[in-house]
Amino acid sequence: MKKRILVGPFKQLVPMTGLAIKGPISDGDLTLMQDAGILIHDEKISTIGPYTSLLANAKDVEVQELKGDHVCLPGFIDAHTHICFAGSRANDYALRNAGKTYLEIAKGGGGIWDTVTQTRKASQQTLTVRTRKLANRHLKNGVTTIEVKSGYGLSIEEELKILRAIKEANETISTDLITTCLAAHMVPKDYQGNAEEYLSEISTSLFPRIKKEGLTNRIDAFIEESAFSSDDILPYFQKAKEMGFDLTVHADQFSTGGSEVAVRFDALSADHLEASTEKEIELLAKSNVIATALPGASLGLGCGFTPARKILDAGGALAIASDHNPGSAPMGDLLTQAAILGAFEKLTNAEVLAGITFRAAAALNLKDRGRLAKGKLADFCGFHSDNYQEILYNQGNFKPCMVWKKGELVFDKHKH
Ligand code: NIG
Ligand code: FE
Repeated sequence: MKKRILVGPFKQLVPMTGLAIKGPISDGDLTLMQDAGILIHDEKISTIGPYTSLLANAKDVEVQELKGDHVCLPGFIDAHTHICFAGSRANDYALRNAGKTYLEIAKGGGGIWDTVTQTRKASQQTLTVRTRKLANRHLKNGVTTIEVKSGYGLSIEEELKILRAIKEANETISTDLITTCLAAHMVPKDYQGNAEEYLSEISTSLFPRIKKEGLTNRIDAFIEESAFSSDDILPYFQKAKEMGFDLTVHADQFSTGGSEVAVRFDALSADHLEASTEKEIELLAKSNVIATALPGASLGLGCGFTPARKILDAGGALAIASDHNPGSAPMGDLLTQAAILGAFEKLTNAEVLAGITFRAAAALNLKDRGRLAKGKLADFCGFHSDNYQEILYNQGNFKPCMVWKKGELVFDKHKH
């Protein structure tokens, strides 16, 4: 028989239940449970309720009794990262801060292509180890599910190497890694600007191999003047859709166009959106596409934030992700970035927390996580406090002291 575990009491438990996927949420809409316990069975939550009554009925149950006050939240979900890479782009960062733009650096041979060159030189094993290390760092910060994109290989074999490295890392760590193929990150220099030829080769030869090896069910594309045009991506996404892949788009980062493609193809999410205007905001709000803000890229590039407030007020669904990557978003701290976005965009605590829990789960099409309720995965974290508001108030400097993944205590600060 599988082990049953009771964890608690949590002074305050915020289940993030009963909240809509789209539109604004006020803090008053949050359910706050006092002195709650979580009963876990077989990796999932079997009951959430008053700790004392769960304890009174606990037979054949391992009890993990907590000392002191703890706030419990669902494990965070980072729905957009690029943490499988080699090398560093510290020099790009220095050049940007000395006045060069992201696009100028890319044109000069730096940018994404620099990381592609470094990543092509690395072995699959090296990439696995690096990805695992970064994912473990996120896990300690309460992130129990991380999306990870390829996109620094940009050839069939090199993309396969990265996708396999992510799969291998996923098999050997507690966090769940959700893989995405971003072979359409930029036109590789080997193709001398021939986007059509490159994308057609990827869709004809790489897509079937991804399916055959079960490497991912998600395809992403960077639609931007420096990467691919909407016209380039239409046949590519058409093929991906026919093959049953879920779609996501790097959209409206510097120029618009990507979000329209995301809506047209009913993509799961459109990410970035820093350049979105009223028109794109309306379009997204009317659709089922999750708008994912990436404050880490705004901080890394020193540019404006995604219009998160406007997206929510228009009725859109807002997720928040770290975009952790070596170029535009090197920080890789979801909670800090989400808190900062909240302060600048005037988002409620509830909206920020929704953006890194159940709304982020929707961006990944995961129905089994992001909220704490019966039947959901027992992914949650505990913060030493009696008030959930302290978490975002501390702007990311206040981290969880304990993290559970599928019912297992995978991080305990008291033991470190
Ligand atoms: O999401 N915008 C395109 N791709 C990444 C950046 C990748 C890089 O600079 O290496 C992003 O910001
Ligand atoms: Fe990205």
